Amino acid sequence: MAPVDLNALREAKLPVVWVLGGPGSGKGTQCDKIIAQYGFTHLSTGDLLRAEVASGSDRGKNLTAIMERGELVPNDVVLDLLKEAMLTKVATSKGFLIDGYPREKDQGIAFEKEILPCTIILYFDASEDTLTKRLLGRALSSGRADDNEETIKLRLQTFLKNNDLVLALYPEKLKRINAEASVDEIFNQVQSEMNAIVS
Ligand code: AP5
Ligand code: MG
Repeated sequence: MAPVDLNALREAKLPVVWVLGGPGSGKGTQCDKIIAQYGFTHLSTGDLLRAEVASGSDRGKNLTAIMERGELVPNDVVLDLLKEAMLTKVATSKGFLIDGYPREKDQGIAFEKEILPCTIILYFDASEDTLTKRLLGRALSSGRADDNEETIKLRLQTFLKNNDLVLALYPEKLKRINAEASVDEIFNQVQSEMNAIVS
């Protein structure tokens, strides 16, 4: 990729919310509600990767196999996609919801060094049992290549291997949300955290 000029992002000084949690914890569901209420720009790294695959680009060619194995795609690919997407939105954005990133500790370090500091982390905390049930439910209709029993197990393993190491780096920014509750109850918790960072 050609180098991108990130000055516009740095100068805009917009809030950045990292939205984290296991596969199926409700990141996308809650982001839809946050957009409706707060008008932030939602960028899901999973969605960006699936769009890259669908575009037929060279960069997208190897990604499907990695995602079907429930593994993480290389950090530079994800960070480049995020930078490009953030730059296209910066002029009109009120803030960014970065959904599904960082999934591994070096991703967080690179983001803050190269783009912007994260303002808070919304972490959706749910048991493995709950995550598996939700994903198996969604598998019936999602059409996602990684929504099948075997890949769901692998996605959970990847998450469990990395998650504590990521969260441990940000004790002050970390906002733990109990994600076992109903969508609306979870959103009540989310609102308390979002209200504290928007003026
Ligand atoms: P990604 O697309 O981000 O998948 P994921 O993290 O596995 O999470 P999901 O999108 O499946 O779940 P979600 O938390 O958004 O939950 P949702 O709201 O949909 O990533 C896919 C792959 O891309 C990764 O495995 C990896 O290979 C790659 N990738 C992505 N980011 C990467 C990165 N940073 N680095 C490297 N690789 C990366 O909800 C799930 C279901 O539950 C829905 O049916 C929903 O209706 C239901 N539900 C939601 N909330 C509730 C509730 N409170 N009660 C009951 N049901 C609920
Ligand atoms: Mg999602």
